[in-house]
Amino acid sequence: MKGIAMTNNEIGQLASDYLMPTYRPLPVAFVKGEGARLWDAEGNAYLDFVAGIAVCGVGHAHPRLAAAIAEQAAQIMHTSNLYLIEPQARLARKLVEISFAERCFFCNSGAEANEAAIKLARKWAVQHLTPKQRTIITAEKSFHGRTLTTVTATGQEKYQKAFLPLPSGFRYVPFGNIEALESAVDDTVCAIMLEPIQGEGGINVPDEHYFSGVRRLCDERGILLILDEVQTGVGRTGKWFGYEHFGIKPDIITLAKSLGGGFPIGACLAAGEVATAFEPGDHASTFGGNHLACSAALETLAIIEDEGLLANAAEMGALLTDRFTELAGQMAAIDHIRGRGLLLGLQLAEDCAPALAQACLERGLVVNAIGTNLLRLAPPLTIGADDCAEAVAIVADALTSVV
Ligand SMILES: Cc1ncc(COP(=O)(O)O)c(C=O)c1O
Repeated sequence: MKGIAMTNNEIGQLASDYLMPTYRPLPVAFVKGEGARLWDAEGNAYLDFVAGIAVCGVGHAHPRLAAAIAEQAAQIMHTSNLYLIEPQARLARKLVEISFAERCFFCNSGAEANEAAIKLARKWAVQHLTPKQRTIITAEKSFHGRTLTTVTATGQEKYQKAFLPLPSGFRYVPFGNIEALESAVDDTVCAIMLEPIQGEGGINVPDEHYFSGVRRLCDERGILLILDEVQTGVGRTGKWFGYEHFGIKPDIITLAKSLGGGFPIGACLAAGEVATAFEPGDHASTFGGNHLACSAALETLAIIEDEGLLANAAEMGALLTDRFTELAGQMAAIDHIRGRGLLLGLQLAEDCAPALAQACLERGLVVNAIGTNLLRLAPPLTIGADDCAEAVAIVADALTSVV
């Protein structure tokens, strides 16, 4: 392959010498991708069931996406939000057309999108609620990002404890428990912020009635429902957005990950009075909504539509669920599979997830371990039935080597 200068190990050494040790990367450097396939620095091929953690929805190096980015880069990449940006306005219209929302704000990541949502909710609260009402309720095991405020929204102490003091105004409840939520909403609360399906917390799908209960509670108390769709949004669950599975409309959602098909972009979408709560000067981002990121996102959404990837994600998700359920009947090490569309969690009966992910990697399948006993499967939305059969066979074989 062209341009290969270093081996996996050499890249690993360079990274460990010069990068801050915020990650513990597996000893493989992917240098090329095509669809659901990856190649490492030594030319070994892999089937990608991580997709950049639910980022590369249209697969790697999609020719249309690569061309759209190249064309936009050759024309103009960035001007600042002090001037009008055509792809940004067109992307906002497109997102409004496919969602509940009426207006969008663009930024560069999931954490930034959630930061915008939190500020938007508080600004709306200033305009519409009592001065006491600024608290936002989030869920235990949630994940909303790593900035100081979004790590505070994240209901997991392990991410917070080294960074005290945290910003105030957050309260946590168990996910999926409507009674706990009802008792947590007092006269200090302005919003509830939840993932439709918890991703980093373990692919936790709530009971089908949970979100209608949450929506009713928000309406009764006159507070906002914010959904973090950073992982579930843009087709990942077989629908454009996770909230569509639960028959409700939120007030605010956040997007990032797969919105740009691999190009960094985040978005905060809102409807009703909350959509106009921000005024000039309230919030901003130098890079947010630039020509290049918005052109990448517009093309990503067009590819998802043109290639029928929502239906494919639903169909392939059902296929994987069936195959892994069959496998669970044959292998005691698998407990069950859960999730929606192509956001799936394979629950293992033993604490072998990291070893299993490593054994899969050695056999040419990229999967992600969450904690000790869950394997996350989040392939590109473009995968086919043969890819799914291959992945199931590799997991089955890899399991025999670790249990
Ligand atoms: C649901 C959810 N929200 C927010 C984030 C943070 O996104 P980012 O890493 O782009 O800041 C993530 C990342 O995994 C996520 O899964």
